[in-house]
Amino acid sequence: MANQDPTRQRRPIRSFVRRTGRLTSSQKRALDELWPRYGVEFTPRLLDFTALFERCAPVVLEIGFGNGETLVQQAVENPEFDYLGIEVHEPGLGHCLIAAQDAGISNLRLIAADAVDVLHQQIPPTSLRRINLYFPDPWPKKRHHKRRILQPPFLNLCADRLEAGGSLHIATDWANYAAHIEELLAASDRFVCSSRREHDGDQPLDRPMTKFERRGLRQGHRIWDWRCDKADLS
Ligand SMILES: C[S@@+](CC[C@H](N)C(=O)[O-])C[C@H]1O[C@@H](n2cnc3c(N)ncnc32)[C@H](O)[C@@H]1O
Repeated sequence: MANQDPTRQRRPIRSFVRRTGRLTSSQKRALDELWPRYGVEFTPRLLDFTALFERCAPVVLEIGFGNGETLVQQAVENPEFDYLGIEVHEPGLGHCLIAAQDAGISNLRLIAADAVDVLHQQIPPTSLRRINLYFPDPWPKKRHHKRRILQPPFLNLCADRLEAGGSLHIATDWANYAAHIEELLAASDRFVCSSRREHDGDQPLDRPMTKFERRGLRQGHRIWDWRCDKADLS
């Protein structure tokens, strides 16, 4: 039987399912015309951020930026930082490109690939000032929990890619995912949780409200926010 073949390679467990999602004509045009300006191809080579952004500035990575509105807003509000966004959902990428062009920003680049692969293969060690993971897919069913992006190896990978003094910022609106995150952080020696807040959308940490946060609030969910500082192991 095929699945008993020991030479057969296991497919990695992904934290997303590729949804085809309908591209609007303006999103399609944005992907065609604006990708050369903001897009970065996925290749198994480390990025040179100074060459990529044509300057030397601290880099903030946002994983799973959705439609990108929050990402673009942060890039507009913090011109002294460079922003790198990773997303696999094509309509979201198109939406983000349009928002970036409308905002006229130059401190933003996007990658269309699995963030785990990008972190492993393209992000140099100790190169990021900050990683934002806002409302990652919660995979609420128990049999799907293994698909949650936040797992011990992912946490270690994030710590490896952050510079000394860098931080990981997480938010969720799923109580069960929040409990899982609490357990992960408590068991990790790579991060120290310096801020934790549970709220109703009124007191986020230092981030704008996101589309999925608004959706969660409409459904009566609470919101959890963490700031996790990279531990100094020296
Ligand atoms: C629940 S949505 C949240 C979107 C946005 N951050 C917000 O708060 O509105 C999660 C997003 O993460 C993306 N995603 C999930 N796993 C990913 C991965 N491994 N690499 C890149 N994007 C991923 C999904 O495509 C989806 O758009």
